[in-house]
Formats: sequence, structure tokens, C-alpha cells
Amino acid sequence: MKDTYEKALEAAHFLRSKLRAIPDVLVVLGSGLGGFAEVLEDREVVEYGEIPHWPAATVVGHAGRQVGGYVGGRYVAAMQGRFHYYEGYSLEEATFYLRVAKLLGIERVILTNAAGGIDPGLRVGDLMLIADHINLMGGNPLRGSNDERFGPRFPDMSEAYDREYRRIAQEEAARLGIALQVGVYAGLAGPSYETPAEIRMIRGFGAQAVGMSTVPEAIVARHMGMRVLGISCITNLAAGVVGEPIRHEDVLEVGQQVAARLIALLQAVIVRM
Ligand code: HPA
Repeated sequence: MKDTYEKALEAAHFLRSKLRAIPDVLVVLGSGLGGFAEVLEDREVVEYGEIPHWPAATVVGHAGRQVGGYVGGRYVAAMQGRFHYYEGYSLEEATFYLRVAKLLGIERVILTNAAGGIDPGLRVGDLMLIADHINLMGGNPLRGSNDERFGPRFPDMSEAYDREYRRIAQEEAARLGIALQVGVYAGLAGPSYETPAEIRMIRGFGAQAVGMSTVPEAIVARHMGMRVLGISCITNLAAGVVGEPIRHEDVLEVGQQVAARLIALLQAVIVRM
């Protein structure tokens, strides 16, 4: 049987044959945030279903394709649709695409997501730069035998979200007049949203926002030495913060409303990465 490395290599070879160049940056678009792919110039589309060994996307709001194109002079691969643990993929499957990206030669990743705001200073529609994360998924994508071709057994996570990229994001946000909050993202397995008691606990842990993605991806990217920028879109206030129920439809809608600001920020940041 083929191991993850061999599968990822086949998928990377396939993508290389479809793309005009090796992408400078991989951008992963969270729920409701897929619109970024539309601003890429000279686009080319690869459906996930075409890529060997690639899992199929299932969740509403995720198209399931990769769009290549240019931002400023930089060639970008944007993923519309990611793979969530709650869909039933293992954490290894959910992060397979990053193995492929690395073997394709990509060294820079932007992870975006929809998240619930825990901190009272966060408002619906805010963008939050991820300074760090807390893994509350109940598992780790690196569990099991380690493949040294990807990275070390015990990877350092003391700067999971690249310091220089964070500085660039803050500079560009200030220049564009886009408010950019900063905080710690807690990643949970989902798919049920949290209870108010869980949110109180997570607030006590030191997280400002909560969501169901990004953490395993950042771990796998760092395992391979890729540099990561993370940006959350606060689509709702977390359970119990205002006492209103959380609905996936609202998450998608707010994501779409915020997309214009996020797109402007991403465009400005990508040319400096
Ligand atoms: N909790 C978890 N995941 C989320 C939320 C939330 O409140 N909003 C968007 N994704």
C-alpha cells in the first residue's frame, strides 16, 4: 500500500501538470470566504475530484476546488473548501493537502477561517490575526509513526504563526484602514457548537476565538517548516456571550459580508510574503 508521502507525491505531480507555475502562496479559504478566488487574475481551476488521493469536500459553503492565479506578480493557489475533522476525515486526511502543497514546492500558507468571538472586545464581522492557537481537537495529525521526509518527530510549535507575516499583516491592515484584532484561536472538533460552560472554560484557557479548523493544518505545515499566516473572521459571538443561538447560515452570511475586507488585506499581504 502507498504511504502518505507517495500519495502526496502523486497528487503533487498531478497538480504540477495542471498549474502554470509553483504557487508562491497557498491560501485556504474558510466558510463563506471563497470569494477571494474570484479576484485572482488569469485563473485556472482544478476540481478536487480530479486530484489523485484527494478527499472530497462535503460541507455547505465549500465549493471543493483549487483556483490558481495571480495577485500582484505573485502566483497563488487558493483552496475553496477544506477538510474538517467533523466531516469524518482523520486529522491526517484533513491535512493531506498540506503534504501535497509542500511536495509541490509551496513554502507559505495563509489559513483563513470563520470563528466565534469569545473576547468581549470582538464584534461580529471583525477580522482577527491569529497570534497562536490552542489545540482542543482531542487529537494531533502527527500521531502515529513519523515520516522524517516531512519533518521531525517532535516539531517545535513556539512560533506556529510566523512573526514576520503577522507584522506584515498588521502593517498592511493599518495602511488600508482595516481593523485587525489579534488573538489566540482555540480549535475544537465540532460539529456541535460549544456550550456556554465550554466557552467560559476556553476563555479561561486564554483564547479569544473558537473554531473547528486551522489548528491541525498549522501543526502539519509547521511540521514541514512551512511559514503560516492565520486570519479568523469573527462570524458570530461564541455561545453564551450574548445568549443567542449560533446558526451555520449566519456564519456563512457574515463571512460573505466580511469577504471584501479580507480580500483587500490578503492582496496587500501576499505581495509582501
Ligand atoms: N464555534 C465554533 N466554530 C465556529 C463558530 C463558533 O462559535 N463560529 C464559526 N465557526
